[in-house]
Amino acid sequence: MRHCKLIAPAKVNLYLEILGIREDGYHELAMILQSIDLADEIEVRSLSEGKIIVSCDHPQVPTDNSNIAYKAGELMAKEFPQAFAKYGGVEIKIEKRIPVAAGLAGGSTNAAAVLVAVDLLWELGLTQSEIEELGGRLGSDVPFCVAGGTVIGTGRGEQLSPLPSLDNIYIVLGKYRSLGLSTPWVYKSYREKYSDRYIKDRESLASRAAAVHSASIVKAVLGKEAKEIAVKMHNDLEKVVLTEYPQVLELREEFAKYDVLGVMMSGSGPSVFAICESHQKAEVVKQQIREAISDEDLELFVTKLSNRGIQVV
Ligand code: C5P
Repeated sequence: MRHCKLIAPAKVNLYLEILGIREDGYHELAMILQSIDLADEIEVRSLSEGKIIVSCDHPQVPTDNSNIAYKAGELMAKEFPQAFAKYGGVEIKIEKRIPVAAGLAGGSTNAAAVLVAVDLLWELGLTQSEIEELGGRLGSDVPFCVAGGTVIGTGRGEQLSPLPSLDNIYIVLGKYRSLGLSTPWVYKSYREKYSDRYIKDRESLASRAAAVHSASIVKAVLGKEAKEIAVKMHNDLEKVVLTEYPQVLELREEFAKYDVLGVMMSGSGPSVFAICESHQKAEVVKQQIREAISDEDLELFVTKLSNRGIQVV
């Protein structure tokens, strides 16, 4: 195989709790990560030269070695030098549909797709957990993006426990195109304001992380109860983003005015999403928000929760 095409879905966080800080400077988290149908399309092609080339149709996405998809190619070349020498480099084309710097794992899912593609092109025969382990070296959300679905994520977010999948639940998702947030900045701001609340001792951290498995939102996920899930959604990072960015707070408040089951910011933001009772209701809510906020800078999507991560097409 010289070439493959992949679908790389975005994620939202149904739950994100910050428990404490780790020795490596990352935060200890308890999350529920959820794939959605909104996805990028990735094409990966073997090159005769030993180079990595990235191109993207979105002007805000860098194509140099700062792009995490490029880093994924670089990591594979470093880890598998013989295959790199045998099969050559890779050309990675990204068709960006996922909003950028949005808290939707847009970069992480592209990196996960490159790992899956290179494994196939170079006939490496890696297992899912080997690909996830490589992904963890690129970013905390990359391991989740490989198989996707509905998953409890603890540690940095890379320790994954799958839950039964949720699908057929529709959401409306909104993001201002020109507002992108840096994840390190969001976590740093949270730490500056709230580190006094962090759990300090190892044992209590471990038991708090374990407790997420029996949290009420997990029970709602197990029961596939959209209304219960929607009212139990939580994201600690809202505390910093909604206070620093009134535009995001206003957008969240606008979403909550309509017939939705619950509203939340995803990940480190600034995208906001609302769970709706049906596809039809989601379309109506999207229209109502569009009428209330005519600003073209606001992108709005109707999409649904999905049980799939990276798909080879
Ligand atoms: O892992 P990733 O590169 O996606 O993380 C981006 C940044 O987000 C990290 O550099 C760190 O500042 C913050 N972060 C964190 N704790 C996590 C995940 C991310 O502090 N568990």
